[in-house]
Amino acid sequence: MSARNASNSLEPREEWGTRLGFMLAAAGSAVGLGNIWRFPFVVGESGGAAFVLIYLAFVLLIGLPLLIGEISIGRGGRANAMDSYGAVTKSKKWKFNGLIGIIVNFMILSFYSVVSGWAFYYFILALTGNLVAEDRDYGSSFGGFISDPLMPVVWQLLLMAIIIFIVMGGVKKGIERWNNILMPTLFVLLIVLVFRSVSLDGAGEGLRFFLEPDFSVINSGVILAALGQAFFSLSLASGVYVTYGSYSRSSSSITGNAGGIVFLDVMVAIMAGLIIFPAVFHYGIDPGSGPDLVFITFPAIFTDMPFGTVFAVIFFFFIFVAALTSAISLLEVVTAFVKERFNISRKIAAPVTGLVIAIVGVFASLSFGVLSHVTLIDRTIFDLLDFLSAEVLLPFAGLVMSIFLGWIWKPAAVKAEIEKEGNRFPLFTLWSFLIKYVIPLVILIVFLDSLGII
Ligand code: TRP
Repeated sequence: MSARNASNSLEPREEWGTRLGFMLAAAGSAVGLGNIWRFPFVVGESGGAAFVLIYLAFVLLIGLPLLIGEISIGRGGRANAMDSYGAVTKSKKWKFNGLIGIIVNFMILSFYSVVSGWAFYYFILALTGNLVAEDRDYGSSFGGFISDPLMPVVWQLLLMAIIIFIVMGGVKKGIERWNNILMPTLFVLLIVLVFRSVSLDGAGEGLRFFLEPDFSVINSGVILAALGQAFFSLSLASGVYVTYGSYSRSSSSITGNAGGIVFLDVMVAIMAGLIIFPAVFHYGIDPGSGPDLVFITFPAIFTDMPFGTVFAVIFFFFIFVAALTSAISLLEVVTAFVKERFNISRKIAAPVTGLVIAIVGVFASLSFGVLSHVTLIDRTIFDLLDFLSAEVLLPFAGLVMSIFLGWIWKPAAVKAEIEKEGNRFPLFTLWSFLIKYVIPLVILIVFLDSLGII
């Protein structure tokens, strides 16, 4: 137990209160809008079940092994996302990969806060009994809301203020306490909604779209999207597991935690699909309608459901909470970096960082309205932030991380970190083969394929 003190003679590092603290906070980061909002709309745009299968394959083959490695870097390095790379190898060269992660968190939070703000607004609408009536026209009022220059920005900034407040509270009192309450609530709510949705008339068609693969829809864009979704949904290669891992004790089981995080994340995504697609087909909504999908579909479900108002409140509370715990992690990664690099307190680092992100975020919000004509490679500011982070920078950081783990820090050292206090590393040989050869190659091939090079 004293190893952590011996390894750090300076100020003691903040730490989770319990073993479950890391697990819930990490799952809280992974489970979010990526599962409930992004997953269904990307599945819808990518033609359904075949995409889901490729996504699952990426999660198991690439996601889980990298997750194990990423937590190890943090627990071994005991520093922020960037400096931990240097701390485990004594080589400064690889820190750039941590820096990419920190930049990605910045970029993601700037558009993630927009959608979290929408969810916040919908929750309040539901709570005040205004949601159902307003959206009887399946989404036209939603389109009006998100393209408004003021309203969505107000909700976005409110949300940023909440997460700044929580991150200022620190690891144990802020992040851990909130996740402990919020995460379990979330699972109960989801299960109720799955039952409701699969018993709708015409649920079968939606279930077939979601579960019966048609491989003719697969192309290089779909494969890259599946890879991007796997990284995004798991918060992978972004430094959050390095940061959160650095607050955990050496006695915690890294492989057990990684397995738990992947399991929870996949379960929530699948449940979200089981809720959304039966309803999408029941109401004749276009599954490929993009970022609007969830916000159009749900009000429709609740409109003619017995006790619809109650379920609407529960559901939007759920999305809001899931978004909140992920947004907290996004801000924490950048804050931990700013705090340690510039040697300032958490109380200053969190609001300053949050404010800068909020300013960029306003432009992302406005790209649904007044700035919708501002595009680059055919994408609005919002879409560009999403595409660059999920489908370019995260898989790239994952590629570099696999090389770092397999060839620089080396599998034997990762194993030593994992087994430090009596934990075991099952399937180590397989892990090391995947990390050294399979993962870098697969990511490289997906990249080259999507660029049309092979
Ligand atoms: N994974 C979260 C979700 O599914 C979002 C998220 C939090 C994230 N931190 C991240 C995504 C870091 C990518 C990188 O909603």
